[in-house]
Amino acid sequence: MSERLDGKVLVITGAAGGIGRATVARVASEGAKVLAVDLNAADLSAAFNDVEGDIMIHAADVTGEAQVEHMMKTAAGHFGGIDGVFNNAGIEGATQPIEEYPLDVYEQVMAVNVKGVFLGIKHAISHLRARGGGAIVNTASTAGLRGSPLLPAYNASKHAVIGLTRSTAEGHGRHGIRTNAVCPAPIHTRMMRAIESGMGGTPT
Ligand SMILES: NC(=O)c1ccc[n+]([C@@H]2O[C@H](COP(=O)([O-])OP(=O)(O)OC[C@H]3O[C@@H](n4cnc5c(N)ncnc54)[C@H](O)[C@@H]3O)[C@@H](O)[C@H]2O)c1
Repeated sequence: MSERLDGKVLVITGAAGGIGRATVARVASEGAKVLAVDLNAADLSAAFNDVEGDIMIHAADVTGEAQVEHMMKTAAGHFGGIDGVFNNAGIEGATQPIEEYPLDVYEQVMAVNVKGVFLGIKHAISHLRARGGGAIVNTASTAGLRGSPLLPAYNASKHAVIGLTRSTAEGHGRHGIRTNAVCPAPIHTRMMRAIESGMGGTPT
């Protein structure tokens, strides 16, 4: 594998999950130094036990501003700076029509998927500017581009991720900070199995 990310420092959230773990393993194999962030230290240890590379695990909740600020400072302090942030942590919420959708679940989905990305961007900017620029990638979804009747909160949250991405790209491109969103179609992870099961399908 080429070392095209040699020396780059990346912060990746949702790192113990399907997409996050695969991303950490891939970028570490290409030479990046990674702060791998998720809710639970034991899950992170299990996820990266057998993965090679310069990976530091870090437990944090992306909905807490002090925790997100601290996670960025931890990455910068340990590795000497930050070149990129992948705001990838997310939850699916319930699979119910909007007229039956519980408000507390709506609020949880918006907290993780929107506030989490907002905080991840907010507290990345000064570190990226200190390096003369860098990259922010936010995980949206095809659910951020179109509607799904049983995923109203998830749909709204992923549209909002695209809005945060556009706003940051417009505001900070001139500082050398590229901000992009990825919009994956279904990927075989815990989340997709939960959505399939909630919609009455057979989880694969
Ligand atoms: N799997 C898919 O088909 C699919 C498609 C499009 C977009 N996505 C998005 O990709 C991202 C990753 O999803 P995945 O499929 O790997 O799911 P996953 O459930 O395997 O991983 C999500 C991870 O986020 C973590 N997380 C949840 N809340 C958190 C919080 N408050 N703070 C820190 N970490 C938290 C979870 O512990 C979990 O490890 C999500 O944003 C999801 O919405 C997934």
